[in-house]
Amino acid sequence: MSEANPVARRRTFAIISHPDAGKTTLTEKILLFGGAIQLAGEVRAKANRRQTRSDWMGIERERGISVVTSVMTFEYADCVLNLLDTPGHEDFSEDTYRTLTAVDSAVMVIDAAKGIEARTRKLFEVCRLRDIPIVTFINKMDRETRDPFDLLDEIEKTLALDTAPLTWTIGRGRSLAGQYDIRRSTLTPLGKDAATIPVNGPDDPRVMELLPEHERAEAREELTLAVEGLKAFDKTAFLEGHLTPVLWGSALKDFGVKDLIDAMAEFAPSPRAQAAASRTVKADEPKMTGFVFKIQANMDPNHRDRIAFMRVCSGKLQRGMRARLVRTGKPVTLSAPQFFFAQDRSLAEEAFAGDVVGIPNHGLLRIGDTLTEGEEIVFRGVPSFAPEILRRVKLADAMKAKKLREALQQMAEEGVVQVFQPNDGAAAIVGVVGALQLDVLVERLDAEYGLPVSFEPSRFEVCRWVASGDKAEMDKFLAAYPSSLATDLDGAPVFMATSAFNLRYEQERWPKIAFTDVKDYQ
Ligand code: G4P
Repeated sequence: MSEANPVARRRTFAIISHPDAGKTTLTEKILLFGGAIQLAGEVRAKANRRQTRSDWMGIERERGISVVTSVMTFEYADCVLNLLDTPGHEDFSEDTYRTLTAVDSAVMVIDAAKGIEARTRKLFEVCRLRDIPIVTFINKMDRETRDPFDLLDEIEKTLALDTAPLTWTIGRGRSLAGQYDIRRSTLTPLGKDAATIPVNGPDDPRVMELLPEHERAEAREELTLAVEGLKAFDKTAFLEGHLTPVLWGSALKDFGVKDLIDAMAEFAPSPRAQAAASRTVKADEPKMTGFVFKIQANMDPNHRDRIAFMRVCSGKLQRGMRARLVRTGKPVTLSAPQFFFAQDRSLAEEAFAGDVVGIPNHGLLRIGDTLTEGEEIVFRGVPSFAPEILRRVKLADAMKAKKLREALQQMAEEGVVQVFQPNDGAAAIVGVVGALQLDVLVERLDAEYGLPVSFEPSRFEVCRWVASGDKAEMDKFLAAYPSSLATDLDGAPVFMATSAFNLRYEQERWPKIAFTDVKDYQ
């Protein structure tokens, strides 16, 4: 399939939300409307249902949380939509942050009864750092909600973001009866096959007829205020990240979901230019470039496969092409790149900027890797965060120390955990942001490498990457703390502190040394 203007058609986005706001339900319904799945419920696959790909791991099934990040591609209204799923649980937030480096826009799902919650806010800040435009979907309008004007006000105040409702619901909670499209002046009653009809503004009698008599006066006043009094949608302000269009709905009742997908197709941005260390790469450049933002192992329990998810940033990826892995300078033949759908994958004969392809490999590719058609560039911005929990790995069988080292190296390359090798030769320390990552590590080391392990506390509590423009000072620092220094996966120096106080103390003593808690891969 060759395409006339493949880049302009692409919409690559993620959904951000606080747990329980309805992300899974909305994802299901988006895929359903997009024709990517036949039956709602396929994404979730609970208890006795057939396993889905996002549910492969025992720990995930047991706890009913979504650990892994995957991508779902489908066509809709002349667009190719790439929806990148993110894990709901906070302990896997690093995965989510990395995924957000690979999208061009995001849908922010808010529970209408709760408003902005902690995690929504945090993920929003990550999007803002990267200037990712946000479309807001206020969910659960079929339940008791907060006042809609209050919700808009909260978004404006807490996120410092203008709002422009595209739709307004007629009734809420048990009275939810329909949707009014503010830009088009159309009305869509609630109901599976209800047709959308043009109306003559908020005063059109057909609008309020959807509600019981006693609710009409208030609802009319509210709708009139929404239509006449609130900010109109401004595409430029949206693309620049100053304004969020707002849609209301109920993912559970399939309500407002189609409006959301229509909005994504209509004005969500096509693939953006990507910053590499030496230059900015535009999406419509002819040569293929891309970066790996996620590695996922064991997607298919029957095949021990390891998939690197790469976002194509420019050019055309063709199956069978030889790309250059910039980190090693070696060629990589892309013999079986894959697209993912809700339930299936298929070989990607070609892919364009904005697409995400899975590249099967046996440990060759790492998170943060750049692939090109030869150019020596490295994409920025797949970050690594200083872990909050540090542990020593305790091996049941001491004879397997070498195997453990290799396994940990692999887990670190996949981004499952971080591994720090102390300079004094002591046993490796693993670092994670959330405790559930440790459970994943235990399960995978046992299942894939036959290495039963447990953890013991490390004497260190905090770690920071260290660097300095002053080489002599850096050398002095490195020499001063042989037993508090370690190296990460890439050999970068890391200072291990026994407490936050200890860290602050050293920071004050060494003003020329930069102690950082975020590191770009590479
Ligand atoms: P998450 O991925 O953001 O964590 O949320 P998820 O979709 O799992 O939804 C959380 C709960 O909210 C689920 O109920 C789901 O059915 C419900 N929900 C989602 N969207 C809507 C909506 O528009 N209206 C209403 N009323 N409920 C909604 P649950 O009882 O926790 O799970 P389940 O037993 O239904 O699977």
